[in-house]
Amino acid sequence: MTRKLLVTSALPYANGSIHLGHLVEYIQTDIWVRFQKMQGHTVHYVCADDTHGTPIMLRAEKEGITPEALIEKVHAEHSQDFAEFLVDFDNYYSTNSEENRELASNIYKALKANGKIATKTIEQYFDPVKNMFLPDRFIKGECPKCHAKDQYGDNCEVCGATYSPTDLINPFSAVSGAIPVRKETEHYFFKLSECSDFLRDWTRSGTLQAEAANKMTEWLGEAGENKLSDWDISRDAPYFGFEIPDAPGKYFYVWLDAPIGYMASFKNLCAKAGLDFDEYWKKDSTTELYHFIGKDILYFHALFWPATLEYSGHRKPTNVFAHGFLTVNGEKMSKSRGTFITARSYLDHIKNPEYLRYYYAAKLNGSMEDIDLNLEDFVARVNSDLVGKYINIASRTAGFINKRFAGKLNVTPNNAVIQELVSAKSLIKNAYHDRDFGKALREIMRLADLANGYVADKAPWVMAKQEGADQELQMVCSQAIEMFRLLTLYLKPVLPQLAKQVEQFLNVPSLSFADVEQALPTQHQIGEYAHLITRIDPKQVEAMTEANKENLQSSAPAAAVVTPPAEEANYISIDDFTKVDLRIAKIVNAEHVDGAEKLLKLTLDIGEEKPRQVFAGIKSAYDPETLKGRLTVMVANLAPRKMKFGLSEGMVLAASDERGGPFILSPDSGAQPGMRVK
Ligand code: 2FM
Ligand code: ZN
Repeated sequence: MTRKLLVTSALPYANGSIHLGHLVEYIQTDIWVRFQKMQGHTVHYVCADDTHGTPIMLRAEKEGITPEALIEKVHAEHSQDFAEFLVDFDNYYSTNSEENRELASNIYKALKANGKIATKTIEQYFDPVKNMFLPDRFIKGECPKCHAKDQYGDNCEVCGATYSPTDLINPFSAVSGAIPVRKETEHYFFKLSECSDFLRDWTRSGTLQAEAANKMTEWLGEAGENKLSDWDISRDAPYFGFEIPDAPGKYFYVWLDAPIGYMASFKNLCAKAGLDFDEYWKKDSTTELYHFIGKDILYFHALFWPATLEYSGHRKPTNVFAHGFLTVNGEKMSKSRGTFITARSYLDHIKNPEYLRYYYAAKLNGSMEDIDLNLEDFVARVNSDLVGKYINIASRTAGFINKRFAGKLNVTPNNAVIQELVSAKSLIKNAYHDRDFGKALREIMRLADLANGYVADKAPWVMAKQEGADQELQMVCSQAIEMFRLLTLYLKPVLPQLAKQVEQFLNVPSLSFADVEQALPTQHQIGEYAHLITRIDPKQVEAMTEANKENLQSSAPAAAVVTPPAEEANYISIDDFTKVDLRIAKIVNAEHVDGAEKLLKLTLDIGEEKPRQVFAGIKSAYDPETLKGRLTVMVANLAPRKMKFGLSEGMVLAASDERGGPFILSPDSGAQPGMRVK
C-alpha cells in the first residue's frame, strides 16, 4: 500500500548559522525521508526558518537592518547550507509568511471558540529605558543561590540552579543595562491544564520512543493528577511576530506560531504542487505526520503541539522522533577549541558532505542518546569504510570490464555473496525504518567485507594475466559489479550524490528498494569507471578546527587600540579623561582603499550635519560589508590628520593584544549615533 507521509525537521532560528549540531537532525530526517521515498511511498518533507521573537528583533536592530531584511539574508544562507549537505526539502519556507499568519489566527480563534483561551494579569520585568518587557534570557543579575555575578534570568551557568528572574539579586536589563521594574500586563493563556487526560490518551495510543513516553509520564503524572500549567502564548509590543486577532499590541509568542509554521510550509507547497492541504491536516486524516526534533524541545512538541492541534480541530502527529545532542571529541562544542564548526566551514575544508552524513548515520540509533563526532575516528571510519571497503570493490574490478570486455557484463545470480546481499534487504529496511541507521550501516559494511573477500579470493588481477581465463575474469568482475550495485542501493539514503554517480556509471535508472532482486542483465553495458571518492587527509580536519579558532583570534595589529591598563600609579584625572570626546558612531559606509594594505575607509554618522571620514586599520579583521549599519565608538575631537588616501577625521576604538584583534567596540542596544560616551 502506498502511504502518504508528511515529515518535518525543527525550524532553525533565523538569527544564526547552521552548525554541525543542527545537522544531526537534518541529516537524520533526510536519510529517513529518502529511505521512505525509495520504498515508493509519497513523502513530503517540509521545513522553514523560525523567524519571530525578541532575539531576532534585537539582532536586526543591532545590525541596523529591519527584521525582514535579516530573515531574508538568513533564509538564503540556510537554504544554501542545507542544499549543499544534500538535505532535500520539498519546501523550505518561513514562519513570517501570510499562510502562517492566517493559520495561526484561525487556530487561535478555534481554540478560543472551544473555551481554551484565558487572560490573566501577570507581573513581569520591564526595561524602562527600552520600554519593553524583558524575556528571562534578557535579564541578568546575581545568582540567588551561589551569588555568581552576571547570570541569566532563568538559570545559573555556574551552579546550575533554576529560578525565576524575580529571584535574581541586583537584576539588570541585558538590553540596555537599566534596572528593570516590575510591571503588570495582561497575557493570553492556552488552558493546557485542561488537556491532561487528552494528552495521556495520546501518549498511550501512539508509539512514542520509550524515553519520550517516560518524560510524558513525568510531566503528566498519574491519571487524575493535574501537573500541567496553562501556557502563556502572548507577548507585548514591541515584538516581532503576529499580532493576536482583536488584541492590539499583543503578539503571539514565537513558540505558538513556530510549529504552525510546519503547516504553513506545507500549505505553500500544496499551492505549488497541487496537493490537498486538508487531506493531511483534517481531524480524521489517514496520512501520517512525523516531527523530527531535538530532545530539548520535546515539551513543545509532545504537550503544547498535540493539544493545540486537537482543540483547533486538526489531526495529531503520528509520532515525534527526538534525538540527542552532538558532542565533538567527547565535549560540548567549543569556540576556543575550534569545535564549534559551522556548516559552511565544514564545506570549505572537508568539501564532501557525504562523509559527515555517513559518520552521523553510523552513530545514530533512533534513541535520544547524545552522539559524538570524534574527529580522529571520523577520518578513520570514512577512509576505511567508504574508500577501503565500498569503493574498493568497483575500483578493483570495473577497469577489466571496461578495457577487456567493452563494458559488457556477465552476471550469474547464483552467487552466494550476491544471494546474501539480496536476503539482507529486510534487515536493512527495518533498521532504516526504525531510524537505527547504525545497525543498517554495520550490516552493509559486513556485506562489503564479504564482497571484498570474494574479489580477493578470485584475484581477477591474476586471471587477467592468464591465458584462456577471459570468461572467468568477466564473470568474477561482473559479480563484483552486481555486489557494488546492491551496496550502492543500500547506501543510497545516506550517500545520495555518490549513488547518483554510480547509477550513471552502471548505466541504470534511479535505484529503489524494488530493484534489489533485479540483477544487472547479461550483456548489460556499464559506463567508464572514474574514481568516485578520495580519502580525507587528517590535515583537512586540523585546518578546519584551526580556522574555527582563528575566527575568534586574528593577529593583525589595529591602528587604534585600547591598550592594557596603565601602571597602577599612572593615574589620570577625570578631567584628563573628559578631554577625550567619545561618541557613538553609526558606520554608514565601509570600503576598501585602493593601495592600502591595512586600512578601511569608514563613513561615520555621529549626529552631525555631515558624516565623518575615518581611516581605520581594521582591514585584516573585517569585511567592510558586515560593518555597514553597525554602531561603534569613535574619538570625535582628535585633530584631523591628512593621510596619503585622504583626510581622517577621528579614530574608531578597537581592542587587541597577542590573543587577537582588532575587535571594534559595540554599544549596548538603545545607544544612538552622537551620544556621548563618558
Ligand atoms: O529550538 C529551536 O531551534 C526552535 N527554533 C525550533 C522550532 S521547531 C517548531 F516547532 F517550529
Ligand atoms: Zn549559581
